[in-house]
Amino acid sequence: MAQFTNTSAAAVVWALTHLMKNPRSMEKGQEEIRSLIGTKGFVDEDDTPKLPHLKAIVKETMRLQPIAPLLVPRETTAECIIDRYEIAAKTLVYVNAWTIGRDPEAWNNPEEFDPDRFVGSCIDLKGQHYELIPFGAGRRICPGMLMRIATVDLSLANLLYKFNWEMPMVIKGEDMDLDW
Ligand code: HEM
Repeated sequence: MAQFTNTSAAAVVWALTHLMKNPRSMEKGQEEIRSLIGTKGFVDEDDTPKLPHLKAIVKETMRLQPIAPLLVPRETTAECIIDRYEIAAKTLVYVNAWTIGRDPEAWNNPEEFDPDRFVGSCIDLKGQHYELIPFGAGRRICPGMLMRIATVDLSLANLLYKFNWEMPMVIKGEDMDLDW
C-alpha cells in the first residue's frame, strides 16, 4: 500500500515544484482556490470539481512527470500487430508514458509547463485519451485513479490555499533540472 500513497505524495511534490518554477501558474491556481473558498478555512472534496485550473495543474504535472514513467510492465498473451510492428506472444511490453506526454506530434511546446493548454480541452486522465495516460488505460488501468481526487487534488488545493510556496533563496527556478 505504501507505494500507492507514495505515488500521490510524489504527484503533489512534482506539482509544487513546477508551480515554484512557474509562479504565474501558482498565483492563478491560488486565485481560483482562494476566491472559491474565501474564509472557510479549508478546501473539501466537494469543492474540487469547481476548480478547473487546479485540475489543469494536476493534468499538466502528470503529463510532464507521470509517476510511473513506464507504467507497469505487461506481457502479451498472444501474437499481435500494432502499427505494423509484429509482436510475438509472451513479449514483455513497456509503455513509455513519459515520452508520450512530451510527444511534439501530440502537444504544442511539449517541454513547457502550461496548465492553460487543458482549459477548454476534453483531454482527461481516465485512459480515454492516449496522449495522456499516467494511470494507464484499458482493463488494467489504475483502480486507485479516482482516489487521486481525494489525495492529490485535495491536498494540493489545501497546500495552495494556505501557503505561498517559493524556492529557498539560494535556488533559482531556472536552475532547477526536473528531468528524471
Ligand atoms: C497519483 C496516484 C497514482 C498513479 C499515478 C498511479 C498509476 C498507476 C499506473 C500507471 C498503473 C499501471 C496501469 C497499466 O498498466 O495500465 C497502476 C496500477 C495500479 N494501481 Fe495505481 N496509481 C496511483 C495511485 C494508486 C492508489 C491510490 C491505489 C490504491 C489505493 C492504486 C492501486 C493500483 C493497483 C492495484 C494497480 C494494478 C492494477 C492491475 O494490474 O490490474 N494506485 N497505477
